[in-house]
Amino acid sequence: MNRRSLTVTIVGAGSTRTPALIGSLVNYKERFPLKKLILFDIDKSRIDVQEDYIRLTMEKYSPETELVFTDNEDEAYIGIDYAFVQMRVGGFEMRGYDEKNPLKYGIVGQETCGPGGFAYGMRSIKPMIHMVEKIRQYAPDAWILNYTNPAAIVGLALSKVFPHDDRILNMCDQPYSMIKSFAKILDVDMHDIEPRYFGLNHFGWFTRLYNSKTGEDMLPRLKNYLVDHEFKPFNAEQRDQSWLDTYKNVNKMMSFFPEYLPNTYLQYYFFGDEIAKASNPNYTRAEEAKAGREKQVLDICRKATEQQSLDDIPLLIGEVHGNMMVEVAESIAFDLKKVFIIMGVNKGRKIIPNMPEDALVEVAGELSKDGAKLYPYGEVKTFYKGLMENQHAYEKLTVEACLESNYQKALEALTLNRVIGGNPVDAKKVLDDLMEINKDFWYLK
Ligand code: G6P
Ligand code: MN
Repeated sequence: MNRRSLTVTIVGAGSTRTPALIGSLVNYKERFPLKKLILFDIDKSRIDVQEDYIRLTMEKYSPETELVFTDNEDEAYIGIDYAFVQMRVGGFEMRGYDEKNPLKYGIVGQETCGPGGFAYGMRSIKPMIHMVEKIRQYAPDAWILNYTNPAAIVGLALSKVFPHDDRILNMCDQPYSMIKSFAKILDVDMHDIEPRYFGLNHFGWFTRLYNSKTGEDMLPRLKNYLVDHEFKPFNAEQRDQSWLDTYKNVNKMMSFFPEYLPNTYLQYYFFGDEIAKASNPNYTRAEEAKAGREKQVLDICRKATEQQSLDDIPLLIGEVHGNMMVEVAESIAFDLKKVFIIMGVNKGRKIIPNMPEDALVEVAGELSKDGAKLYPYGEVKTFYKGLMENQHAYEKLTVEACLESNYQKALEALTLNRVIGGNPVDAKKVLDDLMEINKDFWYLK
C-alpha cells in the first residue's frame, strides 16, 4: 500500500486510553501512515507518565514517525491534517462528582446522561470552542474528529457556533463496540455488518444489520438469540461488572420494546431509578475505571520507564476507541466511503423529516474525502419521536444555558431530562449543587 503519510495531533493525550490508541496507530500504519504524531495535553504530568512507553513503542514499530510531546497549544496544531480529540475537562476528579452528586438525590449519576452529563457538557463546551478556533488559526483544513463527551451536547454546541465548518465530525464508539459484539454472536466479521440506526448520541436504536456479503438482514436472527441469551460485549472477560450489567439491560429493554435493538445508554432513561438505587455512592464508574483500566495502563507505563525497554510489555491495542478513531480517519483520508454510525445536523430535515432541523442526529453514513454523508433514515415512529424530541430539547437548552450563562435555561434543561423525572424541585436541587461543585468551570446567572 502506498499512501501519503499524515500529521496527527491527539488532544487530551494524557488520557490513559492513549497507549492503546498508539497500538491501533502502529497496527494500522500501512493503512494510515504517520509522518508526525503530536501528543498534546494541558496537564503535562499526565503525558509525562506515559511518555516513555509511547516513545519506545513508536521507536520500535514506527520509527519513521516524528514524535512530539507538548503542553503548548500553539505547538500542537501547526500544519496538522487531523486532530483526534479526547479531552476530559476537569479530569477524573470531576467525573467522580458528576457520577456521585446526583445519587444524593436518588438520581442516576453518569458521565454523559442526566445531571452528570449536563455538568460535564457545561464544562466542555467552551474549551472545545476555543480548541476549534485555535486549530482553524493554524490548520484551516484539518479534520477535527471529536470523541470528547458528552458528544451529544458538545457536538450540538459546535454545530451552532461553527455552522459552516464541515470538517468537524463528532463520533462515538459505543455503536462500534456493540457492532463488534453482534459480530461475535452472529459469527461474522464486524466489517461485514452494514448497520442501520437512528437516534441521538447515546440515545438510539439499531434497525437493521445487513450482511454486506449476502445481503441478509441479520437483526431478526440476533433478536431471536437475545430472547434467551444474555447480551455480552465481545470482550466480556476483560470488562468490569458495571459494563456487563449495562449490556444485560439491552435484553431487558428489548423485553418491553422488541422492535429495534437499543443503544446500551438508553438504560439510564428507562431504568434510572433502579440503577440509582443499586449504585454505590462511594464507588462509581470513576473509581472502577481507575482501579481497572487506569491502573493497568499506568503500571505498564511505569515499567517501561523503569526498564527503558519494552521487554515483557505487551502492545496495548484499542479494540474499540483506538481502532475506530484510526478507521474513521483512514476512510476520510483515502476516500474509502466506509460505513459508520455518525452524528450530523438534521439540516433541511433531510435525515429524519419529523425531527427538528437543528437536532444532532445519529444514523449510519459514509465517510469519504468530502466528509460525512449521512444516510437519510426517514420518519421515526411516535414512541421514538417523543423520546427523541424531549432529549433534543434538553440538549439544546443545555447548550444555550452554557453559551448564554443562563440559569433559567439550565433549570428548564434539567427539568426536561428524563432521569430527573420532570420535577423542578429535584432539578433545582441538583442544579444548585452541581453549580457549586463546578464553580471553577462554569457559571450561570
Ligand atoms: C463508551 C461510550 C463513550 C464513553 C465510554 C466510557 O465507549 O461510547 O462515550 O466515554 O464508554 O467508558 P469508561 O470505560 O471510561 O466508563
Ligand atoms: Mn460515546
